Amino acid sequence: MTTARQQCINPACAAKYPVTDTLVSCRACGSLLDVLYDWPSDLPKTLPAIPSPRSHTWAHPDASGVWRFRRLLPFFAAEGDIVTIGEGQTILQRADLLAAELGFDPDCLHLQYEGLNPSGSFKDNGMTAAFTHARMVGAKVCACASTGNTSASMAIYAAQCGIKPVIFIGEGKIAYGKLSQALDYGALTLQVAGDFDACLARVRHIAENIPAAGVYLMNSVNPFRLEGQKAVMYRVLQGLNWRIPDWVIVPGGNLGNCAAFGKAFMELKALGLIDRVPRLAVINAAGARTLDTIYNKLNIRWNGGKYFSDGGSTKVNAEYTRMDAAGEGGRAHTIASAIEINRPVNLPKALRALEVMNGEGCDSFHASGGVVRAVDDETMKHYKAAVGKFGFGCEPASAASVAGAHLLLKEGLIKPHHVVACILTGHLLKDPDVTVGYHTGLNTKAAPQPAPSSPPAGRYANPPVKVKDDLNEILRAMGVQHVA
Ligand code: F0G
Repeated sequence: MTTARQQCINPACAAKYPVTDTLVSCRACGSLLDVLYDWPSDLPKTLPAIPSPRSHTWAHPDASGVWRFRRLLPFFAAEGDIVTIGEGQTILQRADLLAAELGFDPDCLHLQYEGLNPSGSFKDNGMTAAFTHARMVGAKVCACASTGNTSASMAIYAAQCGIKPVIFIGEGKIAYGKLSQALDYGALTLQVAGDFDACLARVRHIAENIPAAGVYLMNSVNPFRLEGQKAVMYRVLQGLNWRIPDWVIVPGGNLGNCAAFGKAFMELKALGLIDRVPRLAVINAAGARTLDTIYNKLNIRWNGGKYFSDGGSTKVNAEYTRMDAAGEGGRAHTIASAIEINRPVNLPKALRALEVMNGEGCDSFHASGGVVRAVDDETMKHYKAAVGKFGFGCEPASAASVAGAHLLLKEGLIKPHHVVACILTGHLLKDPDVTVGYHTGLNTKAAPQPAPSSPPAGRYANPPVKVKDDLNEILRAMGVQHVA
């Protein structure tokens, strides 16, 4: 018997919904949802006892670096529900050469290589959980807006379980490595004349308001996705032999990852499995720095959930109105296309994570909570190359975490002896243009895009479909008869 429910994150609302409902927001107040549990009494009392005792085997789902921790995400009814492709076999790498280069003490800087997942990014941690839920509720069509990695990950899972995938990408806003994955995995790929924020607004509208489309939404507003992404933190702890790091540093885009990390530590603490919590640093790209503005300039905080009533959420909406008026609404711009996002949908959960992950019990502790910084494109390229030179490489957005670690070290907030875990979210090969550009000076993206010289003729050819940012045109391209 599952003991899970969905619950609104706004404490003043706290509306509850069955785990079998398909929702992306609270029906009562519109806020985000959590998946919450009545933890079973036989849950182990120590962290090392949490992973499945069979996790040394290669049997499903024990081979998965998400599901070996399934005691901490028990929303599924039976193990047979679990959809897994062996995600999460990723490592926390002690990065002593990079540490020496940047001025950390040995054994202090650690890199969590999430690019080593099956689709090449951390998203697989979330998709395995969301697809498990999608199959539980009998979804037939899944969809997402994406800067690339979500779509690649969604498409590979959809291909495994026969759920039809529809992808919304902003035209010209996606690295080719990622686009090629979506096409190869057979997803219907709509290139919408707009950016990520516009694509997400469209697909969310369709999922919530157009039942004829039958869309199960796979973006990180889906609370089940974030359940899977908690496992990244469990693996960091396991990689440190269950030591708690002083810092966890992660790039911030739509803010699903940091939201999931915060929930992971909230739960571990409430369960009495840990007595210390790392301090969180979220790193924006300077060209897409909404969280940085909201946290550091406007000083908006979660405030134990009073964010919804103390003026916090009102100020965020006012900031969005200001951005629109100033023409910044659709103008996020960074070479780190993965995090080129101006309206991060998980913002309230990210603020909650920044409050929870305050370094309690660690040398990094500060009552004010986590920190947010923004780094520019040149800086990300620089640290990306450093990660490549001294490690397994990563894509531009991922390098924001190492850039942030060095920045905070120079600011004196991080001490050289602090134990730091930087999350490297995506694989080096996701965006070869930026890497080739950095090392050779070639601007491959400046080359004019030639028209296809011949129509694609392969049996499985699956070209992207260009559409205007228009609801009716999008629905037609999806083959949905009903027009709202
Ligand atoms: N790093 C990479 C490589 C990403 O692809 C993303 C997000 C992030 C960091 C930011 O993570 O959204 O949880 O804060 N990519 C999404 C996508 C938005 O569509 O692939 P976040």
